[in-house]
Amino acid sequence: MAIMLLSFLPVLERIAEEIEGLAGRGRPADYIPALAAADTGRFGMAVAELDGTVYGVGDWQEPFSTQSVTKVYTLALALAREGDILWEHVGREPSGNPFNSLVQLEYENGIPRNPFINAGALAVTDQLHQLTGDASGALLDFLREESGNPDLDFDRDVAASETDRGDRNAALAHFMASYGNIVNPVPTLLRQYFRQCSIAASCADLALATGFLARHGIRADGSRLLTRSQAKQVNAVMLTCGTYDAAGDFAYRVGLPGKSGVGGGIIAVVPGRCTVCVWSPGLDERGNSVAGVAALDRFTTITGLSVF
Ligand code: DON
Repeated sequence: MAIMLLSFLPVLERIAEEIEGLAGRGRPADYIPALAAADTGRFGMAVAELDGTVYGVGDWQEPFSTQSVTKVYTLALALAREGDILWEHVGREPSGNPFNSLVQLEYENGIPRNPFINAGALAVTDQLHQLTGDASGALLDFLREESGNPDLDFDRDVAASETDRGDRNAALAHFMASYGNIVNPVPTLLRQYFRQCSIAASCADLALATGFLARHGIRADGSRLLTRSQAKQVNAVMLTCGTYDAAGDFAYRVGLPGKSGVGGGIIAVVPGRCTVCVWSPGLDERGNSVAGVAALDRFTTITGLSVF
């Protein structure tokens, strides 16, 4: 049974102490030059309750490169507008492959396995861009509103750095376009996707921005973004696909819907209770934060707050 807590702060303080030796392990994402210099010793963690109360430790208010964590929000925004038609463009099965892999796309006729590998996120951003005329702008507005932080912004250096090294994402987008699964011009789509990945936000910002998934689809202002069923679907896809070819191990250790990014951030959802965001830039070989996964493992073990 989950422990009843008056405040998450003592739990977070205990976790920060316990995983101190792990911050510094792993390597930053050096395939994006602007991220290569990140200090792997940094560690932050925040919990946001359903009413927007936030607790944090370490570098929890420090902005970092959100990267693939943003794939959760673009999925939610596209699903909210398009409904089930979105699933004609992207699947919802774990890939068992690295996040930037090309191999499954040919076997599966240009329909990516899920929205959280790069190919799937490109397909979702393409749809969102078609629906809004400015996918990354819609995403930034959403994150600013949900976090209550109007200063959230794109990091132009990171976006430029990814554009410079964008060959693999360009290959994925062109390949899907050859199957008719991309509607916008590929250069437009890539610009949108790199802007989306470059958004800088803190653990506090992301914990708050993910609250709608803990509130079964309800936004911070009380309006509904997703139906209860759609919120369940997004959480389920996070659990099964949110950490790529490590999703099984993440479910085993943490037992929560989660989504990682190569900036070292991970967001996790305890439906009906809270969200947790952790950041530490040292990554394991599958692109997930070493200290971040360990901290979430400790969080669910100490509190008993998991979906299982
Ligand atoms: O497209 C890329 O490779 C990066 N902008 C995002 C990758 C990412 O964060 C995958 N996550 N672990």
